[in-house]
Parts: sequence; C-alpha cells; structure tokens
Amino acid sequence: MAAGAFAPVDAEPPVFSPAFRRELETLFRWRRDVRRFETTAVPERVVAQVIRAAASAPSVGLSEPWRFVRVGSRAARAAVAANFEEMNALALAAQPSDRRALYARLKLAGLREAPVQLAVFCDEAAPQGGGLGIATMPEMRRYSVVCAVMQMWLAARARDLGVGWISILDPHRVARDLAVPEGWSLVAYLCLGYPIEEHIDPELSRAGWQARQSLPDRVLHR
Ligand SMILES: Cc1cc2nc3c(=O)[nH]c(=O)nc-3n(C[C@H](O)[C@H](O)[C@H](O)COP(=O)(O)O)c2cc1C
Repeated sequence: MAAGAFAPVDAEPPVFSPAFRRELETLFRWRRDVRRFETTAVPERVVAQVIRAAASAPSVGLSEPWRFVRVGSRAARAAVAANFEEMNALALAAQPSDRRALYARLKLAGLREAPVQLAVFCDEAAPQGGGLGIATMPEMRRYSVVCAVMQMWLAARARDLGVGWISILDPHRVARDLAVPEGWSLVAYLCLGYPIEEHIDPELSRAGWQARQSLPDRVLHR
C-alpha cells in the first residue's frame, strides 16, 4: 500500500460534475474564521479526518514539513491563552487612537471555548524532500504548511466544523510552552469546534474593521 494521508481507494481519475463545482464554491463561500464555539465535543474520528486532509496537501519537494500538536492539557491551554492576552494587549496599545476602541471590541480568538486546539508547526530542518525547491526560497517549507492548514479549514467546514486561526501570539513562547523539538516554527494556532452561528461574510467586515476589496484591482497584467 502506498504511504500517504489517504488510503488508496481507486486509481481511476475522477470526473467532477458541474453540481460538484457549485458545491465546492459554496464551501469556499461559507468557510469562515470562527471564534465563537459551542462547547460540544468534536468526535476524535472527525479530528483525525481533518488532520488527514491537511496532511494530503502539496509540499515543496514532497517534504511534508507539517507537524501537528494537539493542545489538550489545562496547563498548555492556559499558557497559550496567557500568551494571547499579553500579545493582544500590546496590539491594542499599538493601534492608532481612532481605531483603538473598535479593535478592543473585536473578538480575536476563541481560546477559552474551543474544544479542540491544534498548534501547527513547520519542521525547518526536515530532511524529507532532499532540499528540493528550498535552496533559494527556504520559506517554501512554511508555505507548504499553510497549504495544509487551508485544506484542514475546508475539510472542517465540510463537516460543519469551524476553525479559527490565531496569530496574535509570541510564536517562540508557544514553541517553548509546548516543548516542541528544536527547529520547529509555529505557523498556525488553530481552534476547532462547532460554531454557534454561521455567516456568509467575514466577522471583521461585519464589525466594520475591514471590507473585502474588488478582485480586478488585485490582478495585474504585464
Ligand atoms: C494567517 C492568518 C492569521 C489570522 N489570525 C487571526 C487572529 O489572530 N485572530 C483572528 O480573529 N482572526 C485571524 N485570522 C482570520 C482572519 O481575520 C479572517 O480570515 C479574515 O477576516 C477573513 O474572514 P473569513 O476567514 O471568515 O473569510 C487569521 C487568518 C489568517 C489567514
């Protein structure tokens, strides 16, 4: 049996139907960053499925540099929550005065409620892949981990599960608090759980922080 995240089911290339493409687009539209979670437990089977989806992502040189840490202990969660509180206080203080009150009202994490928490690291020294593709752009390892996170995000939403990505953290302190091996750098701290509400638009646009911009302005032709 071939190694990899998914067991090989069949070798026939699939043909995706228009109906599937519409559903896929619906999945893209309804994926949200979630910060308000039910406390309902997430079945372990579902957690395993979304980690497997992440681990089927593309990676530079097939290096598969993602490392997932399940953060479940009270002590580890308290350390991450304290890290967030401190970094968020600094971020609040750094806001321009006309944005500070709005920033203070934003809910930027669901660390107290989320039933599942995952720290996703990049193993910067992973020998797998033989160094292919990283000679001039070593950051490609980390980008590969981002691909994995994105796959997890979509796989989770397809199972009615919300994901919230928290970046208002001191990443070195997270690595220390979780006692991960030397050379692992934090890419994402993720909260997973069933959302208490569903929205088609981002929370930040609903809160008046930032609206989406039109796509044509982002596509250049040369
Ligand atoms: C790399 C990355 C880091 C993020 N960090 C945070 C964060 O620290 N706190 C937060 O509330 N949302 C965070 N988000 C979520 C974004 O705010 C969110 O993706 C954006 O507002 C668009 O909303 P949507 O994901 O619901 O479409 C992060 C998203 C990404 C991709």
